Amino acid sequence: MTVVATREDLAQARAALPGTVAVVMTMGALHAGHAELVRQARSRADSVVVTVFVNPLQFGAGEDLDRYPRTLQADLDLLEREGADLVFTPGPDVVYPDGDPVVRVTAGPIGEVLEGASRPGHFDGVLTVVLKLLHLIRPDVALFGQKDAQQLSAIRRMVRDLDVPVEVVSVPTVREPDGLALSSRNAYLTDEQRRTALVLSRALATGDVDAGRAVFATEPDAELDYLARVDSATFTDSPDGDLLVVAARVGTTRLLDNRILERQ
Ligand code: PAF
Repeated sequence: MTVVATREDLAQARAALPGTVAVVMTMGALHAGHAELVRQARSRADSVVVTVFVNPLQFGAGEDLDRYPRTLQADLDLLEREGADLVFTPGPDVVYPDGDPVVRVTAGPIGEVLEGASRPGHFDGVLTVVLKLLHLIRPDVALFGQKDAQQLSAIRRMVRDLDVPVEVVSVPTVREPDGLALSSRNAYLTDEQRRTALVLSRALATGDVDAGRAVFATEPDAELDYLARVDSATFTDSPDGDLLVVAARVGTTRLLDNRILERQ
């Protein structure tokens, strides 16, 4: 496994990769969900590139950029075990050599609702870095977790609207045996908060917005932000939408989850 941190080293190592290339983009603090992304990437391409970069552009003022877990050595150990070929671990000065970019990708309406309404500018920051990394790596396939469903939808839309030559593949959410969706932010939870956090998957299991809200009403230690049934392509509210999405705060930690539904 080759690990590089500069654009020059990345270009050289990328040129040496054989065959088709899959990319898995991460912000580090890797867990079994990321391992599954890398395994799926392995099954879809000859070579696998993983990026580890905590992207400042997608964090708002007062969010957890400074305390976001950074566990690079453990991440590299996991990626070595999972058979990644090339890992790109740039710093902000490598990704944004001229400082914050003046020209950015705008997520449009998908970026303004639900997660986008709670975190203004978040999806613009995500799409801007994703597009830059796609340009730097030039993969055939890019894999993203279903857990961040609105991000996935925004990326699919960007790829279509801007004719980005890459296939986007979603990978199902990996869960703990008790249903908690794996997330790097789970590391912030105390044992008690972790138990409280199960309210998200319990609410989704009802398959219904009202029933899900009733589940939240039984859990005073979780603060529901939104629970909605949406169309997964547009993230607009829809009574026969194919996705139930939820976001809630447990302590100071914001958690997301979703469940794919049959259309009625
Ligand atoms: O999902 C993430 O970890 C990030 O949003 C991504 C796609 C790596 C962009 O920074």
